[in-house]
Amino acid sequence: EKGTYPHFMLKEIDEQPFVMRKIIQEYQDENDEIKLDANVRKAMLGADRIYIIAAGTSYHAGLVGKEFIEKIAQIPVEVHVASEFSYNMPLLSEKPLFIFISQSGETADSRSVLVQTKELGHPALTITNVPGSTLSREADYTLHLHAGPEIAVASTKAYTAQIAVLAILAVDTAKAKSLDFSFDPLQELAIVASVMESLTDQKETFEQIAKDFFAETRNAFFIGRSSDYNVVQEAALKLKEISYIQAEGFAGGELKHGTIALIEEGTPVIALATVGNVNLSIRGNVQEVAARGANTCIISMEGLEQEGDTFVLPHVHELLTPLVSVVPMQLLSYYAALHRDCDVDKPRNLAKSVTVE
Ligand code: F6R
Repeated sequence: EKGTYPHFMLKEIDEQPFVMRKIIQEYQDENDEIKLDANVRKAMLGADRIYIIAAGTSYHAGLVGKEFIEKIAQIPVEVHVASEFSYNMPLLSEKPLFIFISQSGETADSRSVLVQTKELGHPALTITNVPGSTLSREADYTLHLHAGPEIAVASTKAYTAQIAVLAILAVDTAKAKSLDFSFDPLQELAIVASVMESLTDQKETFEQIAKDFFAETRNAFFIGRSSDYNVVQEAALKLKEISYIQAEGFAGGELKHGTIALIEEGTPVIALATVGNVNLSIRGNVQEVAARGANTCIISMEGLEQEGDTFVLPHVHELLTPLVSVVPMQLLSYYAALHRDCDVDKPRNLAKSVTVE
């Protein structure tokens, strides 16, 4: 039930800190160490390459997961859109592990890949919010998101839950490989939860930013570099699906190779700047579009902020920034849709789970 909330989407955005804490609880043993199915660990250790298969928002979580698994666990990862993979399978490695990420566990495009890869004899792990779902039953292993039912069509808390579970999985694998790694994901997720709370407490701020940037526009750009690029792709999808504003999530450095032609007087460009080594370059990209008339907004992170930034996120572990930087993006989309009188929870042409290919 929605309770006092006007929409499920807003309720689910607000639930994210609780979901983080629930995940910590579910994936922690009595010695405060990571608790994870030993078979999943074995499957990770046995893989020479991981193939993440997903659609939509879950695909965007997979992009973040690739960074975790490659940087922390040092296993190469490919992330594929399910509907593409199933008709155009790339050359596989010798010992692949398939990870299916799916909130519903019912996405037909992903299932079609699972059927094919099982036929080839490859192991599969499903990361899902619905343990009894098709993708969960048919895979060898399941990790549960513990996000609680997600009712709004636009996915919010499932995305952050997927990222949190992928971080835990990556660190667990790194530990099993005795790799040198320097962070405790459970502790860091607790910090993330408090930061998420501080963000969801500032709804008026994001409502105002949404008004300033999206009230009139027909299109919008979200730009970012490095891991911010992963998040801006999700930001654009959120805005498109519920507000019907045409939006694109773009790599900051790639804009000048063509897409910058679309920037006109007043075009909203929202930049994420939470990554140290690209902080100056993304700001350079913002200047390039501002010089062409764009209405620019920079959301940065404590330690990297500059005067004039629209919003500064509190600091969290650098690998986990997507968990907090996505929250303003979700709220901006929500308020943009609300102000345009869109049906936030049930956008046109969309269904919560896509069970046809
Ligand atoms: C976007 C959204 C969709 C789903 C996609 C995959 O907000 O909800 O893009 O993420 O249809 O669904 P699942 O995760 O259920 O496989």
